[in-house]
Amino acid sequence: MRVLLFGPTGQVGTELRALSEQSGWRLQTVTRADVDLAVAGQAERCVLSQKPDVVINAAAYNFVDKAESEPEAADGLNARAPGEMAAACKCLDIPIIHISTDFVFDGSKSGPYRELDSPSPLSAYGRSKLSGEEAVRDATSRHVILRTAWVFSEHGSNFVKTMLRLGRERDSLGIVDDQRGCPTSAAGIAAAIREVLAQWADNGPGRFGTFHYCGGEAVTWYAFAQAVFASADGHLPAPPTVKPIATADYPTAAERPANSVLSCEKIADVYGIAANDWRQDLNTVVGRLLK
Ligand SMILES: NC(=O)c1ccc[n+]([C@@H]2O[C@H](COP(=O)([O-])OP(=O)(O)OC[C@H]3O[C@@H](n4cnc5c(N)ncnc54)[C@H](OP(=O)(O)O)[C@@H]3O)[C@@H](O)[C@H]2O)c1
Repeated sequence: MRVLLFGPTGQVGTELRALSEQSGWRLQTVTRADVDLAVAGQAERCVLSQKPDVVINAAAYNFVDKAESEPEAADGLNARAPGEMAAACKCLDIPIIHISTDFVFDGSKSGPYRELDSPSPLSAYGRSKLSGEEAVRDATSRHVILRTAWVFSEHGSNFVKTMLRLGRERDSLGIVDDQRGCPTSAAGIAAAIREVLAQWADNGPGRFGTFHYCGGEAVTWYAFAQAVFASADGHLPAPPTVKPIATADYPTAAERPANSVLSCEKIADVYGIAANDWRQDLNTVVGRLLK
């Protein structure tokens, strides 16, 4: 199976490259130097010229706050480019796996969000990602849209790396305790995609649609920070005191959902993929970062 991967240098892209070595795929990566997805037409041309068997889009504009002041840039990467990829996939009659986000929801639901719940993003980033989902669905029915959340890994920028850096620099940290979500390791997302591809290799591509995949245990950012420092126990010279604060005490340009917990029941039922054991993966990631 020839897999064309956009975003190979990101958190999920890096883990997909690592996994591809033990998988049966022939991975072709498309970096920003190969194709600048901010330029209209490039994504479609690339897919049409490479003629892969599957496209994975792990590229995105992920600057949630900055997107408020440059929504066009977010839309270009998160909506137009995936729409182009999906249109090219339709022409070639191949499937696409596209990654989306919990931030398509507004957080007003009391329980976990399911795939059929109505999206209503609060931020420019969330709106751009929702437009990307719609563009992919409109272009081809042969899609898997994987919504995930609170991604962490050893690579790139993420909450875990920020906590470990701040933990060395500060005596105390105030962390938001009224936003709830599901931490997810990039390695877990890559493994879930590998399982989808393995089942497609065995049975032919099918069981398309939108799926949630994230950590199986929901926490607040404050509890996530506590878990990071527990994982780092004994390795930081003087671990900081972590205090719970309210969203109102940490103003940001983009509004974030108070509840972005996703239910992973559908992907478990359809593909047999269990929710991510983020605490176990957190120990692995923190251990590697502290080495
Ligand atoms: N991070 C999270 O917490 C989170 C949460 C929910 C959903 N998601 C979704 O999960 C997916 C993967 O996220 P991630 O955290 O792995 O992303 P990431 O680490 O931010 O990586 C983004 C990737 O997109 C590429 N890219 C950005 N601008 C580009 C351009 N103009 N042309 C070509 N490539 C470009 C980057 O290339 P460079 O290395 O050259 O910049 C990088 O490979 C995304 O769809 C994201 O929206 C992420």
